[in-house]
Amino acid sequence: MVSDPANGRLHGKVALIAGGGASAAFDEHASGAAGIGEATAIMCAREGAKVVVADISMLAAATTVAAIEAEGFTAVAVQCDVTKEADCRRAVEAGVDTFGELQLLVNNVGIGQLGSVLEIDVDEFARVLDVNLRGQFLMIQNALPAIERAGGGAIVNVSSINALRSAVGVAYETSKSALRGLTRNVALSAGPKNIRVNSVLPGAKKCSCRGHRPRPGLEPGGDADSSRSARLSVGGGAGCCLSRVGRRELCQRGGALDRRRSRRPTAVADPTA
Ligand SMILES: NC(=O)c1ccc[n+]([C@@H]2O[C@H](COP(=O)([O-])OP(=O)(O)OC[C@H]3O[C@@H](n4cnc5c(N)ncnc54)[C@H](O)[C@@H]3O)[C@@H](O)[C@H]2O)c1
Repeated sequence: MVSDPANGRLHGKVALIAGGGASAAFDEHASGAAGIGEATAIMCAREGAKVVVADISMLAAATTVAAIEAEGFTAVAVQCDVTKEADCRRAVEAGVDTFGELQLLVNNVGIGQLGSVLEIDVDEFARVLDVNLRGQFLMIQNALPAIERAGGGAIVNVSSINALRSAVGVAYETSKSALRGLTRNVALSAGPKNIRVNSVLPGAKKCSCRGHRPRPGLEPGGDADSSRSARLSVGGGAGCCLSRVGRRELCQRGGALDRRRSRRPTAVADPTA
């Protein structure tokens, strides 16, 4: 477990985590590990934010909220499918209605996909882009006016190292690459409104995401040589610069949740920072 003592960097802020549900709540294969969104929601609460956990699974969202409340912090769960505009609007309204304002959006939703251009049909290609790209666009479009009304804030879009290095998922990599373009464009227009927009590009993490789940032998801190075949089996041979699976907490620590960190030349910071 990574220890990163909270110091109130988000005190007085309201954070909306899209895809912040605890996958372990409904994924029988989760083995106790949960996703980046859940860990981010908990970290935001520990840093002093009031948190809105939005997820397509209300059970998953409520499970994260229960974990936050168990630590004595404040959060609310909302069911939200990011491919539905009305749901995105409702998630933003849940933050504003419950806590009065919104300053931070973490766009974490993403579904995995394995297969090359000849191994995927057009409907699956469209579905992955619908969730991973159009869904993030809809969340941004609905959250931006609220963040502007609050006087500014930040948006963090969760892309992937596979935006830079190809492995085996053509739709996934297309969506994560396009998300960086979306991030750059929104950063340009939102900057003058005191809203920072960044993307983070995690490498493979030990978590429950279907399509991202590490295969046996590819464990955090695992020996690079002994897990070589496993790396290749998840596409990590081309995209996994650490040659091992990381821990979800590292995504938040390197992320763009505050200005100082977003300017550091880390592996996950977007050039728009
Ligand atoms: N896990 C990895 O190794 C890894 C590596 C690089 C990037 N990423 C990216 O990080 C993000 C989180 O990945 P994770 O592995 O923690 O995933 P996860 O499956 O643990 O969490 C994703 C959450 O999104 C929710 N979700 C799925 N579809 C949704 C929809 N249409 N609307 C709202 N919520 C929806 C799920 O219920 C789940 O709670 C994704 O964008 C993923 O592409 C993950």
